[in-house]
Amino acid sequence: MRRFSADYLDDTRRGMWSPDDREALEPLALAERSCVLDVGCGTGELSAVLAEECDDARVAGLDRDPALLAAVPDPVHTVQADALSLPVPDATADLVVCQALLVNLPDPLAAVEEFRRASSNLVAAVEPDNAAVTVESTVDAEERLTARAREHFVAGVPTDVTLGAAPDLFRDAGLVDVETRRYDHVRVVDSPYDESALEGAKRKATASRLGEQRETLLEGGLSAEEFDALRHEWREMGRAVVAAMADGEYHRVETVPFFLTLGRVPGDETDLPDRSRTA
Ligand SMILES: C[S@@+](CC[C@H](N)C(=O)[O-])C[C@H]1O[C@@H](n2cnc3c(N)ncnc32)[C@H](O)[C@@H]1O
Repeated sequence: MRRFSADYLDDTRRGMWSPDDREALEPLALAERSCVLDVGCGTGELSAVLAEECDDARVAGLDRDPALLAAVPDPVHTVQADALSLPVPDATADLVVCQALLVNLPDPLAAVEEFRRASSNLVAAVEPDNAAVTVESTVDAEERLTARAREHFVAGVPTDVTLGAAPDLFRDAGLVDVETRRYDHVRVVDSPYDESALEGAKRKATASRLGEQRETLLEGGLSAEEFDALRHEWREMGRAVVAAMADGEYHRVETVPFFLTLGRVPGDETDLPDRSRTA
């Protein structure tokens, strides 16, 4: 079971759903919601956006990890709970949503079925396709090394971290009017470098995050010797990044493709567009 630190979520979600980049959330009709559950909310990165976009709704973030829940900002309510057994009666919320949760579950269908039970209207998931992440960097080796690590990471993780859009999963859970949208989370590192960019360079030069993934990469097909060689090259690449930053010449763009999948609980016609009502 993968665990996530507040620092990791803060780092990897930075800039996601910035106020001028929320078009992909439009189908959620957030201004019309009255009760929203964000399941597997972590530190509440998405919950906070939902609370901003919902006019009067009660927004609750649920997660099994109390340490992450402690960092969820007001006015989001927090509940410690398992995604497969939400502590709410049927049809409690008019939107049950998650972000980067299904990719971490061995049985994502069971979670979507539970979301359907807890929702009176909409169910949504915002999930990445981690195999389709791209990196462009002024340090040549970075693209090659991150691609190599990613390939073995994806192969070694016991869940489907490439899930992305999941329309079939939603239909299998009995949801209707299923639609998907793509949202690219683009993370740019450029001069002048902020604190998080400097921290990221330090992590590369020590290969600390790569080290944390050792078991997964071995599970994904790397031998111990190949891992050691990758780590050696990774540290060299990290030192090149630090040096390029000192000269103000480092530039990196990472694109993480996320996909919003949205479905409606059958029998609730309140959100149907006019053309569907008359069809
Ligand atoms: C990758 S993090 C995503 C956090 C947050 N949604 C975001 O996008 O920043 C996955 C989260 O799902 C939570 N999680 C994993 N399995 C869970 C389960 N069975 N029930 C509740 N939460 C779970 C983890 O504790 C973690 O906070």
